[in-house]
Amino acid sequence: MARNGQGAGERRGTQRLAADRAGVAAAARLLRAGRLVAFPTETVYGIGADATDPAAVAGIYSAKGRPAENPLILHLADPAAAADIAALGPLGAALARAFWPGPLTLVAPLRPGAAIAPAVMAGGARIALRVPAHPVAQAFLRMVARPVAAPSANPSGRVSPTEPAHVLDPRTGLGGRIDAVLDGGACPVGLESTILAVEEQGLRLLRPGGLAVETIEAATGTRLAPADPAPRGTVLEAPGMMESHYAPAARLRLEAAAPEPGELWLGFGPMPAGAEGETLSATGDLDEAAARLFACLRRLDAAARPDGRIAVASVPDAGLGRAINDRLRRAAAPRPAPPRPAPG
Ligand code: TXA
Ligand code: MG
Repeated sequence: MARNGQGAGERRGTQRLAADRAGVAAAARLLRAGRLVAFPTETVYGIGADATDPAAVAGIYSAKGRPAENPLILHLADPAAAADIAALGPLGAALARAFWPGPLTLVAPLRPGAAIAPAVMAGGARIALRVPAHPVAQAFLRMVARPVAAPSANPSGRVSPTEPAHVLDPRTGLGGRIDAVLDGGACPVGLESTILAVEEQGLRLLRPGGLAVETIEAATGTRLAPADPAPRGTVLEAPGMMESHYAPAARLRLEAAAPEPGELWLGFGPMPAGAEGETLSATGDLDEAAARLFACLRRLDAAARPDGRIAVASVPDAGLGRAINDRLRRAAAPRPAPPRPAPG
């Protein structure tokens, strides 16, 4: 299937590369040769392609089964490289200074002449930029020495991966559909980056994520408008933020006080006596809950019966709790069709 730009790599399966010098160098060589390589960031694993190579970028869309209208985040090792690619303006530049490297993505107008494949922007005029802080991501991006387009390394509409095993799973991940995964262990933040659009009128929150909204508000002295999903039939600002996203196969019941018979429990705080399941954090720590959310959802989803249900405790809507609740709402949203099984 040369369609995804991988050629014979696909048939050999997906290599797991150690995050040592040799592994990072091998990953960078593959990426520079137009292949698809998953790599760890502090938020979640991304599936990277050379953003200057249209065929490699097209490979991301086909490996993920991602709709062509959903643009990709460009990853850079060095905040200084952003100025040549996007017009961040004074506000964007101040945010970049304050929070890069880190779990923040900025959306701004693409500079004319920037050598980025148009499919990265899904044909649009604005680009999303991120400088991840994870040391393996930093080493990898420095060695690639080109901008890397990278969405989360999951099939479109599925829960993001926070461990290499999630990426490698042939059913719920991308095992067999990408060339390699650079193994950096579990991602410390565990939720995707916070996305802000930088506009003349100010900032808009497109996705709550791994950098708390309160932290951004405190640094900028402004209040961010809440990131409501666009009503059906209207244009989405971050097209990936469709209501039903991050979807496990099991049904979720949110804001539950206790599990009902037959339900698995996804808790926050100590496990109730006799409950079957897990807690995001026994001590009620939001950072720990964020880091564990996607792995817990995957485990409970695998443990649930085919038409099973997961009852979810309420999580405080502050700090990273806002992003946790956003992902839980999306995971619980009604879905028009059952999750697409991985081809092959
Ligand atoms: O933490 C993260 O952001 C991870 C890691 C790998 O960096 N990446 C990630 O990518 O979550 P993805 O593709 O799963 O989600 C990116 C979101 C999507 O909702 C997409 O629509 C939005 O960002 N986005 C990307 N480019 C955009 C643009 N130019 N304008 C508006 N939204 C954009
Ligand atoms: Mg994603």
